[in-house]
Amino acid sequence: MRNYLTILFLAVLMASCSQPSNPSFKAEDISLVPKPTSFQLNESSFKFGPDTKIVASDQSQQKAINYLKGLFSKAAGYNLEEISAKTEGAVVFEVIEGLKNGAYKLNVTPNSITVSATEESGFFNAVQTIRQLLPIEIESANVVAANWLVPSVTIEDEPRFSWRGMHNDFSRHFIDIDEVKAFLDYMALYKLNTYHMHLTDDQGWRIEIKKYPLLTEKGAWRIPNNQDTICMERAQENKLYTIDEAKFKEIDGERKYGGFFTQEQIKEIVAYASDRCITVIPEIDMPGHFKSAIDNYPFLSCTGESGWDTVFTYPTCLGKETTYEFMKNILSEIVELFPAQYIHIGGDEVNIKSWEKCPLCQKAIKDNSLKDEHELQSHFNRDIEQFLHSKGKKLMGWDEIVQGGLTKDAAVMWWRGWRPEAPKKAVENGNELVITPTDAYYFDYLNDGNPLEKIYNYEPVPESFTAEEEKRVMGIQANLWSEWIPSFKRLQYQAFPRMLAVAENAWASKNNKDFEAFNKRVEKQYPRLDNLGVYYYIPVVKGLDKKIGMVDSTKVKLSLAYPLEGVEIYYTIDGSVPTKKSLKYTEPFVVNDTVEIKARAYKGDIYNDIKKTKVEKKEYIQSVDVSPKEKGLKRYLIPGKLKKVTDVNLKSASKWEVVDSVDIAEFKDKKPVNMVFSGYFHAEKDGIYQFETRSDGGDHLYIGQTLVVDNSGWHGPRKRYGIVALKAGWHSITIKYRPSDKPRAINAWYGLQGEPLQPITSEVTGF
Ligand code: ACM
Ligand code: ZN
Repeated sequence: MRNYLTILFLAVLMASCSQPSNPSFKAEDISLVPKPTSFQLNESSFKFGPDTKIVASDQSQQKAINYLKGLFSKAAGYNLEEISAKTEGAVVFEVIEGLKNGAYKLNVTPNSITVSATEESGFFNAVQTIRQLLPIEIESANVVAANWLVPSVTIEDEPRFSWRGMHNDFSRHFIDIDEVKAFLDYMALYKLNTYHMHLTDDQGWRIEIKKYPLLTEKGAWRIPNNQDTICMERAQENKLYTIDEAKFKEIDGERKYGGFFTQEQIKEIVAYASDRCITVIPEIDMPGHFKSAIDNYPFLSCTGESGWDTVFTYPTCLGKETTYEFMKNILSEIVELFPAQYIHIGGDEVNIKSWEKCPLCQKAIKDNSLKDEHELQSHFNRDIEQFLHSKGKKLMGWDEIVQGGLTKDAAVMWWRGWRPEAPKKAVENGNELVITPTDAYYFDYLNDGNPLEKIYNYEPVPESFTAEEEKRVMGIQANLWSEWIPSFKRLQYQAFPRMLAVAENAWASKNNKDFEAFNKRVEKQYPRLDNLGVYYYIPVVKGLDKKIGMVDSTKVKLSLAYPLEGVEIYYTIDGSVPTKKSLKYTEPFVVNDTVEIKARAYKGDIYNDIKKTKVEKKEYIQSVDVSPKEKGLKRYLIPGKLKKVTDVNLKSASKWEVVDSVDIAEFKDKKPVNMVFSGYFHAEKDGIYQFETRSDGGDHLYIGQTLVVDNSGWHGPRKRYGIVALKAGWHSITIKYRPSDKPRAINAWYGLQGEPLQPITSEVTGF
């Protein structure tokens, strides 16, 4: 018996030696974005080799299989064979019934990978999960050596929303077909499935329309505009703003910027997207944002004129039959090119003043018993919608289309974060909705304005929605308006890593989210993005947001907006552009001259926007020899409409009362009254002090006779600051406020340089 057991033991040992088991992984080795619905990590792993077989059983698996084979062919040089009979050591694709669109199950063991889904996008998403479980070398553009292991996992996964979108604006700055394809590949990696192409706008027409050749022959090209010029200026400090030379062309003896897609290229894009289970939504923005067409077909506008009114361009005339005909002729070609159910017709930011003045538009309003110009736009939308229906399509537009009434069948894209009633009105009307508000999902906004955490924590379904209304939310989308995005690299910088937050918001359920954990996974995605050649945002340098003051010298402290491994700060004090050859920041440094400091962060070859500020030499203001008896400030009220802040002057008989803080108090939204706050401010020690005010209309803050904060001019509530060197002790302080017609705010803060600001209250004031 004993011998038998020994032999058995040896046999097991030998078997395990002859078949070395694959390594196991730790949870922290793995980064899946978006986060799967359920995830279990098991022992061991599956190893891909040149002979790994793919077992296919249904046509619905083909896109997923092609993508997987493509990855291995490119990065590993493997030509994985597809077979139909199940075998050991293979990747097995199986159809199962009842999963949601996009959902899948994935079971990885050392012996096999099983992928189960109900339809093609489920299989495709499972392959993207396998891709993210593979080493980052799988993203390599060339054949590389790697241990192609996939950790053993059990995953069940399904998306929250069916519309997981990204948008590109081709009009303001153009990206070409190869760049579009690269972008579609990034979307696929993160299970984003809807690609919105904003193809036409005032600044350029980007899609060939055979019936109207001038749209692209002329409308796709422009003499560099104001935004191009500013981008070119910015490019001197930041190469990401460089406008690609290849996007310029000599036309009629002039150097013009632009580009467009031929219909053949559009078909290629649509097919490329379809291979990645991505739906392409075309947008032809009408009846406003149409200047690039009106320039070349001037009969379209009310007056025959094309150009800009005060804010928006002249729209097409909605009182002429030719406009309707023109739009339908364009859409007839569009519907043939895009298999998507929805055609986006824009409808945003229309200059309705043109219609108010146009006899034909006014006649159309009267003849159709419409209430106003908004209803005229709705009348137009309905006509276009009927036409789209006749072609088997549905209409989609920006949330302005809700205003004048809408059929139930149209879908709305809510973008105006400041109009929260718009999405509610849309769902109450029964319309489907895509959530894409400025507050979170506008990726043309700088990271400072819409940072990763804000985007991630943004709950897209408004709280006011009922459960029924929530079902009308098809999903979410991030937009990349390209006025200030002149290159594909800058586009990547604006999109990443924020696109990952949108991907996870679109995919993971509300209660399966945690920013800290997400952020750790994002950091693990960077090497993958590096391998894909994707440029991304890295934390900006902090410490130079405001002017720096000094008397003899000062220490300048820099930091990163948030920590990120591998990021270093470089700076200059001679006005030159910081590079990796400049001074490297390691600790606070002393400055004893008036200089301009410029700094930026680098992570390898990736750099971000320069931050800069001036260092100013200041003379101390001596304290005054007073000992205020009372705490707080005197507030004088000075009635009358005044032109400027400097007109706010105390008269000898002005009445006053004591206030604890600088505040508009009960005068908010009331009849405008000018104010003067006056008394003494106590500086606790010698140093550079910063003062800041916030007001509408305008204000001035003086220390003694020195104007420290100039927040004058006619404006809504805004902040301004100034710095001053104060000796310890009491200093006279005066704040003059001249409100706007609708008084909203006057506040003031102070702080020692480098320390947080505090409100100016009776703690530090007296009279
Ligand atoms: C928009 O941003 N005008 C839709
Ligand atoms: Zn008109």
